[in-house]
Amino acid sequence: MAYLIGIDVGTSSTKAILINDSGQVIKTVAPEYDFHTPKPLWAESNPLDWWTATIAAIKSLLDDIDASKIVGLGLTGQMHGLVCLDKDGEVLRPCIMWNDQRTADQCREMTARIGDDDVIAITGNPILPGFTAPKLRWIEENEPEVYSRIDKILLPKDYIRYKLSGEFFTDVSDASGTSLLDVQQRRWAHYILNEFKWPMSWLPEVTESTEATTRISSDAATVTGLPSGLPIIAGGGDQAAQAVGCGIVREGIISTTLGTSGVVFAHSDEYRVETKGRLHAFCHAVPGKWHLMGVMLSAGGSYQWYRNQLCQDELSREKATGSDSYEILNEAAAKVPPGAEGLLFLPYLSGERTPYPDPNARGSFVGLSLRHTKAHLTRAVLEGVSYGLNDSLELMRSMGIAPENIVLSGGGAKSPLWRQMLADVFNTRCTMVNATEGAAYGAALLAGVGAGVYPSVEDACDRTISTTQEVDPGDNVPVYADFFPRYRNLYPALRFEFEQMSDTLQAHEEGRWFTQG
Ligand code: XUL
Repeated sequence: MAYLIGIDVGTSSTKAILINDSGQVIKTVAPEYDFHTPKPLWAESNPLDWWTATIAAIKSLLDDIDASKIVGLGLTGQMHGLVCLDKDGEVLRPCIMWNDQRTADQCREMTARIGDDDVIAITGNPILPGFTAPKLRWIEENEPEVYSRIDKILLPKDYIRYKLSGEFFTDVSDASGTSLLDVQQRRWAHYILNEFKWPMSWLPEVTESTEATTRISSDAATVTGLPSGLPIIAGGGDQAAQAVGCGIVREGIISTTLGTSGVVFAHSDEYRVETKGRLHAFCHAVPGKWHLMGVMLSAGGSYQWYRNQLCQDELSREKATGSDSYEILNEAAAKVPPGAEGLLFLPYLSGERTPYPDPNARGSFVGLSLRHTKAHLTRAVLEGVSYGLNDSLELMRSMGIAPENIVLSGGGAKSPLWRQMLADVFNTRCTMVNATEGAAYGAALLAGVGAGVYPSVEDACDRTISTTQEVDPGDNVPVYADFFPRYRNLYPALRFEFEQMSDTLQAHEEGRWFTQG
């Protein structure tokens, strides 16, 4: 029997998974690390922490298995992060991560220089604060000493590939989120690189996700225990790999992932772009295919924030009795009528990306009355996240994408209440699949394709992934159809105030508040 490894270089842990060639999970392990927010809107992580976690994770996978039976390793990871290396391959500064929102000015300036329409024509997307290129521009403007020493720029998983192999490669799906890829042609966008005088030599070579690009070096073999020369498969950005890991590799099926962020993902055989660039148009990890994607920055993250800040009782009960604090909250929320009796929650706790690319957007409870209890607040949080995901789905529908069913995954999908709510808000059948290990599993399947275990990504998914549960839309569909437009009108009504608040806060930070009117 042959074995495959998938490694997901995540935001707060690196998850490694070992599967056999029939797709059965043998072991998973996920050593954790912190990321840092040195200033409001900033999010940074130390690439060497990922490497330390990767070594520990691989060693742990190899405890119970003969390493010579492993035939391939696939990589995935958090997208959009910028890792800068000097000419000796040393990390120059912490990685600026996907959830960092500091680059609004750089996005504006870069877009003005290239032109709105040309940005979308070339990269398929607007230049957004989370993406990689504006981070490079920020370093150029704010850290000239670091900038002058840059020799290579890498995405997070590709830094781990470099540590494992000594070589520089990336894949088209991850590269799609850099604002430096011509997404339709699936190659680096020379026009943009030339415009900003960024040398091509800084970029890794870009390939399809199933290609066996590099091999485990003898140095990496010594520290990890993996066989020297083991093929490393290109892999994909975490969302594309997650989609492979849920079987979203053909038209007609959409997935929704409820992790810290919330993602609505649609496979597309053709290259297609939402006219205003409100959905991400990225290359898929399926060779020659694309995907459309809406990303909500705080989905499960909103619920986690709510629980951690406002639900000390439930957390204490969890500690005392071992019962899950989310389940306690869900049980109470299930007794509240759908629509939470007019209470709405906007989940923009760390700004937003889809459908409003706005770092200044903020979370809000709107419509509070004396009648509302904590259970209403809980239900409003779950509903607000569901409405936000439906915003992305509506954009897809407006492009003619009509999903037969939506595959749910991620931590939030474990809740039966939330699953039913999503089926009702989407008014579409939702399903769950047997594969629940997400992006790392998808990376292992991609490794299987690259190593010749499976003939194609589609075949890998057909052999390993099947539906385990179905949730049909129920009686609450008309209620949510009434409340969704109320939710939808809130951001446009508050947008100006969010911007003003951001200016006021900045003025305070800079000590200019006494000059304000
Ligand atoms: C995708 C995105 C997140 C990060 C972190 O566009 O920003 O999925 O990759 O998971």
